[in-house]
Amino acid sequence: MSQGILNWIEKRIPMMRVAKMHAIEYPAPKNMNFWYVFGFLATIVLINQIVTGIWLTMSFVPSAEGAFASVEYIMREVDYGYIIRYMHSTGASAFFIVVYMHMFRGMIYGSYQKPRELIWLFGMFIYLALMAEAFMGYVLPWGQMSYWGAQVIVSLFGAIPVIGEDLTVWIQGDYVISGATLNRFFALHVIALPLVLVILVFLHIVALHEVGSNNPDGVDVKRPKGSVAEEDKTPYKMHEYYTKKYDIINDVVPFFPHIVLKDLVAFCFFLAAFAYVMFFNPEMGGYFLEAPNFEQANPLKTPEHIFPVWYFTPFYAILKAVPDKLFGVIAMFAAIALLALLPWIDRGKVRSWRYRCGLHKYNLLMFAVVFIFLGYLGGTPQQDWKVIASQICTFLYFGFFALLWLYSKNEKTKPLPERVTK
Ligand code: HEM
Repeated sequence: MSQGILNWIEKRIPMMRVAKMHAIEYPAPKNMNFWYVFGFLATIVLINQIVTGIWLTMSFVPSAEGAFASVEYIMREVDYGYIIRYMHSTGASAFFIVVYMHMFRGMIYGSYQKPRELIWLFGMFIYLALMAEAFMGYVLPWGQMSYWGAQVIVSLFGAIPVIGEDLTVWIQGDYVISGATLNRFFALHVIALPLVLVILVFLHIVALHEVGSNNPDGVDVKRPKGSVAEEDKTPYKMHEYYTKKYDIINDVVPFFPHIVLKDLVAFCFFLAAFAYVMFFNPEMGGYFLEAPNFEQANPLKTPEHIFPVWYFTPFYAILKAVPDKLFGVIAMFAAIALLALLPWIDRGKVRSWRYRCGLHKYNLLMFAVVFIFLGYLGGTPQQDWKVIASQICTFLYFGFFALLWLYSKNEKTKPLPERVTK
């Protein structure tokens, strides 16, 4: 009877066919490693944010008068409210941790290169939407840092010539950050941006499944010669072929159970770390929840230091490294735009850092170290040496892209393996 119902549904909407093609039997390179778990983890965190967000919305009051008290109410009075709130606040930082790892994976294995440029671009739009989502979410509890952080960031738009001031007022919905701002940020945070994020993630996966996953060797996966016509080599058409013949020595394995099991192992570790933070250290030393935010917003009292949350601080350091406000804003946006342009800045023919020149490895590692150090500089009180250090790191950050563009054209690479390796 249940089979009958399933068949009836399947004839009308291809649920099982889609699940098979895109999950169960999706042909995944068999050498996917640790770095390949972060896309799955990002999906889990996205679901966590949406579900806990819905529950928080049930008790949150989106007004300047009620917001702060309603968060206290959630923490103290609502059944399991403190767990739901900490799941959401820890989830925000976890999101950026996994997304930064996910992006760095793309960089070390050249996953942004042809034919995966669109996957990368959708990823960059996701990243932008995620930053907007996190920024607006942080304003909602209406603590001191919510208020003053919003003040600093929104005022950046004021640096734009001619339209700057009008634009700031338009974003705020008032001449200052006020209840009107809180109200619109609530609307954007709760419905508009999550919708955009879900749609972008969907497109990200569709684009990925059209061309297939890259892998740590960065070589195209091999199929038995002559077995499939060129035009049939997209995963859509290949899934049946692979899954029926996966005993053939092949570079790919069906997603279930092989990759699902790897992802589940990663999920266990992730859950342990997540639960530790949530139950024992939800503020994470002021990195996940900043101390001034336990005090209600007060427009007449500026906190001693104003920092964005850790995941914004690398870009905040770049902003502050440039003495002129307008050029600082331009540098900050350029820093993000260059990441989006990676597929075209990198002119290399080989994808994975395993087979690229030695300089490429150092360049990538330097980039990661500089990014983390910029994060430190942007998130701690300003001192004279830090201004110089931020300027040097900003120079090195942009230097990464310039160097990559220069050496990737005629790079001396190592021979690529015929098939994927371990
Ligand atoms: C909500 C955030 C995101 C989610 C849920 C997500 C999800 C996924 C998933 C499930 C995969 C396939 C599994 C994997 O390769 O790990 C994937 C692949 C990929 N993602 Fe994302 N992603 C997100 C953000 C990003 C961002 C910000 C970028 C880069 C700007 C990005 C770039 C890529 C690339 C290039 C691939 C293909 C990797 C390869 O085949 O080697 N993603 N993503």
